[in-house]
Amino acid sequence: MRVLAVGGAGYVGSHVVRKLCDGHHHVVVLDNLSTGHAQAVRAASRGAAELIQGDAGDQTLVEDILRSRKIDAVMHFAAASLVGESMQNPSKYWRNNVSCTVELLDAMARAGVDRIVFSSSAAVYGEPRQTPIPEDHLKSPTSTYGMTKLAIEHMLAGYHSAHGIKSISLRYFNAAGADAPGDIGEDHDPETHLIPIVLKTALGLRHRLSIFGTDYPTPDGTCVRDYVHVCDLADAHLAALERLAGQDGASAYNLGNGAGFSVREVLRCAEKIVDRPIAAAEDQRRPGDPAVLVASSKLAQRELGWKPAQASLEHIIASAWAWHSAAPDGYSE
Ligand SMILES: NC(=O)c1ccc[n+]([C@@H]2O[C@H](COP(=O)([O-])OP(=O)(O)OC[C@H]3O[C@@H](n4cnc5c(N)ncnc54)[C@H](O)[C@@H]3O)[C@@H](O)[C@H]2O)c1
Repeated sequence: MRVLAVGGAGYVGSHVVRKLCDGHHHVVVLDNLSTGHAQAVRAASRGAAELIQGDAGDQTLVEDILRSRKIDAVMHFAAASLVGESMQNPSKYWRNNVSCTVELLDAMARAGVDRIVFSSSAAVYGEPRQTPIPEDHLKSPTSTYGMTKLAIEHMLAGYHSAHGIKSISLRYFNAAGADAPGDIGEDHDPETHLIPIVLKTALGLRHRLSIFGTDYPTPDGTCVRDYVHVCDLADAHLAALERLAGQDGASAYNLGNGAGFSVREVLRCAEKIVDRPIAAAEDQRRPGDPAVLVASSKLAQRELGWKPAQASLEHIIASAWAWHSAAPDGYSE
């Protein structure tokens, strides 16, 4: 298939680009490189994918790419995704996530491209009332970021009714790890995700890890999160693409590991892998952090035939360590 990966120069996108190229799909990446890296596309695709630097909100450009490259399906990773920033600067999130997606979907409708896989998030649920969280759980996002993801899911349903665009929204929980060779990985600035922060602390690039809250109702008092290997996420995208060939409608699936790990468990496991102590300090709870966020991925298992293959925390952290220790400063461009 000929796939346009919008935001394919980012962390998750580059891992999906690699899987698509390995599966002999033809890949074009559209990315404004606001948080992504040209080198990630080159490395992920081993030079096979075309990178076009531009914005998802540029409807004319997107329509031109869809037509000229004869694109069959779109994968939409592009977003601003810092929860804290989304509360300080909602305009950036409504514009970059929601408005840009309107333009992207209008371009698809105009060019007659009728398949899209969208990177949604666990943030659509808000405070969980039940764990593991099933897809039909109440959606009550507590951040502007989560609201924009939920708004796009609703938008996708509307574009299906009006224009026949079929979609699958994949609600990732915490993407983590890196592809085995360690040549692509997570490179965010600022970094807000626990595993890279722990590993950067081990490398001496950060002073210490802050453990936000140690009195949660969890076995060791620290927050529990669902870490899913980024290569497993990539597999789910290929499964979603396949399903879209035969399926109509707009659907959504959780993608999680099935197991949650606490902040202390992550820290202990990382210390074992890097074979040194990692500086950490206990800090206050952060407002809005639920105690436990764990997905039920039964629906994805049943309907996409997807099951995480790299579920062990040791494996996830070791694969992230291979990347961070080989490229402590991240990508060079
Ligand atoms: N990383 C996670 O744990 C996680 C969890 C849940 C959901 N998500 C979602 O998955 C997607 C990918 O996440 P990530 O961690 O790879 O993020 P990332 O920041 O590494 O990747 C996003 C990519 O999109 C590009 N981009 C942003 N806005 C754009 C625009 N308007 N036009 C063109 N390109 C644009 C960026 O340059 C970057 O390459 C995001 O939509 C994010 O919200 C991520």
